[in-house]
Amino acid sequence: MSVTDDIKSRLDIVQYISQIVPLKKAGRNLTACCPFHHEKTPSFVVFPERQSWHCFGACATGGDIFTFVMKHENIDFPAALISLAERAGVEIKPRSDDQRRIDERIERLRGVVDQTAVFYHQLLWDAPEAAHARDYVLKRGLSEATIAQFKLGYAPRDWAATLNHLKMLGYTAQDVMDAGCASQNDEGRVYDRFRDRLMIPIHDERGRAIGFGARALNPEDTPKYLNSPQSEGLFDKSRTLFALHHARPTIRESEVAVIVEGYMDAITAHQAKFTNVVAQMGTALTKPQLKLLSQYAKRLILALDADAAGVRATMRGLNVMQEASETKQVFFDPTATLRQASHFDLAIEVITIPEGKDPDEVIRKDPATWQTLIEMAQPVAEYLIQVGTAHLRHDAPLPEREQAARELLPILIATENDLQRQANVQQLAYKLRLGSGRALLEWALQNVPNERVKAQPQRSPAAFSAPTEVAAGGEGQAKSTFNVNRAAERERYCIAALLQAPERLALANRRLREAEAAPLDAEDFTQGDYRAIYLTLREGVDQDDVSISEFLAARLPDLRELIEDLRETNLAHLQRRLERGLHGDWVAVLNKETRVVATLNDVEALKTSLGQHILELRRLHLRRQNTELQYLQQDLQRDGQQATPTDTPQTGTFEGQIAVNASVLARIERAMRH
Ligand code: UTP
Ligand code: MN
Repeated sequence: MSVTDDIKSRLDIVQYISQIVPLKKAGRNLTACCPFHHEKTPSFVVFPERQSWHCFGACATGGDIFTFVMKHENIDFPAALISLAERAGVEIKPRSDDQRRIDERIERLRGVVDQTAVFYHQLLWDAPEAAHARDYVLKRGLSEATIAQFKLGYAPRDWAATLNHLKMLGYTAQDVMDAGCASQNDEGRVYDRFRDRLMIPIHDERGRAIGFGARALNPEDTPKYLNSPQSEGLFDKSRTLFALHHARPTIRESEVAVIVEGYMDAITAHQAKFTNVVAQMGTALTKPQLKLLSQYAKRLILALDADAAGVRATMRGLNVMQEASETKQVFFDPTATLRQASHFDLAIEVITIPEGKDPDEVIRKDPATWQTLIEMAQPVAEYLIQVGTAHLRHDAPLPEREQAARELLPILIATENDLQRQANVQQLAYKLRLGSGRALLEWALQNVPNERVKAQPQRSPAAFSAPTEVAAGGEGQAKSTFNVNRAAERERYCIAALLQAPERLALANRRLREAEAAPLDAEDFTQGDYRAIYLTLREGVDQDDVSISEFLAARLPDLRELIEDLRETNLAHLQRRLERGLHGDWVAVLNKETRVVATLNDVEALKTSLGQHILELRRLHLRRQNTELQYLQQDLQRDGQQATPTDTPQTGTFEGQIAVNASVLARIERAMRH
């Protein structure tokens, strides 16, 4: 829960506002004379259910408790946040001191890694003692351009060459150790961690050096690959993908990422111009890695080796690769991969590398073979069924076929997507001649100990639940579980597009102006966090003291992660997801047709879609508002029958507003069709 949500959950808007103006009950809601402008008849309404307010009179604005405080006290969002946090007893952690110190420390350690990489890189080019390393990279077919692009290096054999070099640059032994480039023995002596190895620097997705993979040059040295140690904030294997900073533009554009096992595989792929390839970090794909990739990619292609027996063993939970090497872990965990892929809306496909080879060798021998393999990628479920039934003869007796089904089902139903699950099981039933998939699926759901699946046999509406205020939207209330999700996605699209290029705000407003509608407004967003970001963004656009980024970072520190996330959002990907939702065509998701790779990097296309989504936000906003107004109107009429004539508020206020909204709505809808 973000700080804003936390505060909102603890404060009641009715209680807050009633301290400022006396509120009068009007049906389910409360009314008052607007505190922000002079009026005789109340047009200011507070909605307890949605914890929001609106002035239907001269102000024609509204919002939540934050916007109320901002307007009432004439302060900006951060000030309102501090004021309300205090009142709610929510502690806003000052990122300032503690966090800044940590950030600065990590920044310094990145500096150490970076300088170490520069040092090793230089040595690989020209140190006499690196001659065998130069031979090695040439023997592996790496070009000078590749060596330069990946900043490959050589760590000398000495015990203190790195340490001394970095000390000379002003770093302490502690710095070098914390950056993972030196270690300390029992007697307290500090020594270089990497010695006589080919150094492969590892960068984060933004291209900052964070660690090393170091390959032994002498076949006797173990382990073959020595990595930087895991460290908080600097080098976290589970959040890192090797070569992602080089691959990111291609992945973003093609929406396809290829994942290989080894550093060398990725480097060779890039050298051969397969620039959408990244490598894992010696572990199975983790959730943070998938999340990272899902920002850019729609399809992931895993390059597995042809060892079907190994995969079958892995499917049964046996970690075969562990035996092969102590440091190296299983590369492919089918169950986890299937589950997480559905979670991030990623299609996972598989290619198998011919027996005994790895991508590095395949590509070096003949790039065309690699291209063909990629084109032949098959969906992971199909692949698993194939591997899991390969040992069966065509006329295998029923018990054998059932045994294979028992092995495969837990994996195939691990996906959180119902349709995918059904399709997977159906495919299996067909392959094993086990009757209808439906019976098999029922059996699996009852017999497979899979807590997630049992708890949610259907993706329950709760899984989609969004703040209640959205559910009250005009677009069909009961059946709106799906729409709610889509509404949030559309808002996400708009906010992300604005964050990525704030000047698009003018464009958005132009679209609204053309429909004679008011400029974009915080109330166009139903998600509290997006509303806060929008308000601050608008303030940021209106000032020119600092960059928008700095402006946002200083004012919304608790939303920093969300903002970064939104900035990284792949708009084309999100756009397609929205389109798919609009056509309700979920079956197509399973279909290979969705593989059509279209790029929306096209500025014109983006402009059109942003304008369209902004209009849709306003349309929904107006419809929500009119639904409310109609209730208000009804409540007023009901109350009016009981109240004395002088008490009766001016019913015309709401009726008039409904009519005004209706005509704006008509213009918006017309504009959307053009
Ligand atoms: P491989 O042993 O398949 O390495 O391990 P590779 O990339 O083909 O090595 P070359 O071609 O002989 O140089 C694949 C990946 O597993 C991790 C590394 O990330 C490596 O790239 N690994 C392997 C380790 O972390 N430690 C090891 O000891 C071995
Ligand atoms: Mn290899």
